[in-house]
Amino acid sequence: MKVQAAVNKTVGPIILLGAPGAGKGTQAKLIVERYGVPQISTGDLLRDHVSRGTELGKQAKAIMDAGKLVPDDLVNDMVAERLSRPDAARGFILDGYPRTLAQAQWLDLYLADKVFENQGERKLHPVVIDIAVEYNQLLRRLTGRRSCPTCGRIYNVYFQPPRVADLCDVDGAKLVTRRDDCEEVISERLRAYQRQTLPLVDFYRAKGQLLEINGDQDASAVSRDVLKVIDGHRL
Ligand code: AP5
Ligand code: MG
Repeated sequence: MKVQAAVNKTVGPIILLGAPGAGKGTQAKLIVERYGVPQISTGDLLRDHVSRGTELGKQAKAIMDAGKLVPDDLVNDMVAERLSRPDAARGFILDGYPRTLAQAQWLDLYLADKVFENQGERKLHPVVIDIAVEYNQLLRRLTGRRSCPTCGRIYNVYFQPPRVADLCDVDGAKLVTRRDDCEEVISERLRAYQRQTLPLVDFYRAKGQLLEINGDQDASAVSRDVLKVIDGHRL
């Protein structure tokens, strides 16, 4: 489908499920480019609050540094505020949200009342894409990740290195490593995922909304599969 046609339609809402390091952010950025709907990453929003030193950021910082999940109420309120902005009127991609059953139930209620641009009489259900990746591959992706502090582009020293070591291909900024990408915090994040987020796979499967993708492939093969399922489920 041509990009121009794609940006005139309602898209999603799309939920990207998957463990830490599964490639949610990487794939979300490609979906943004193709469909022109915003990526709403709760991790990015929380990191922004931490760096600005807001009240929410102060509450979230220690929890994130420990690799645990920020309380549902705080995250839901933050998401509600973000989804109310005009750029989310035609659809959005949720990256890293929902992450607990309570968040998923909150989102269901929210979406039941939400009316999207171009929706007409049709009822919209989320398209939930689970990017499944093997454990050792997750570890390698997380320990090798670097990102651009200016434009947010994601790299990997093993799999997607920048053209010049440590510098962003787009704007030349020095790449950074996320605070929570150290081994002990990675283990805790993966434990939190197993305990609190994995049950969402069954939750959405039971609702008939789950689409599973083999995330162990290289990034372009994963993108091909992701875009195919989105195209197959669009209005
Ligand atoms: P968040 O920022 O969401 O982190 P995460 O879920 O741990 O996921 P990541 O961002 O680490 O991984 P990703 O799937 O986006 O992978 P990426 O594309 O970067 O959350 C951080 C923290 O915030 C949480 O721990 C929690 O404290 C808090 N939080 C956030 N949301 C919350 C919520 N809803 N409720 C409560 N608390 C919340 O890729 C990873 C690496 O792999 C990159 O280097 C990339 O280049 C590489 N890569 C990607 N795809 C491929 C591929 N196919 N092949 C090879 N390499 C690849
Ligand atoms: Mg991410």
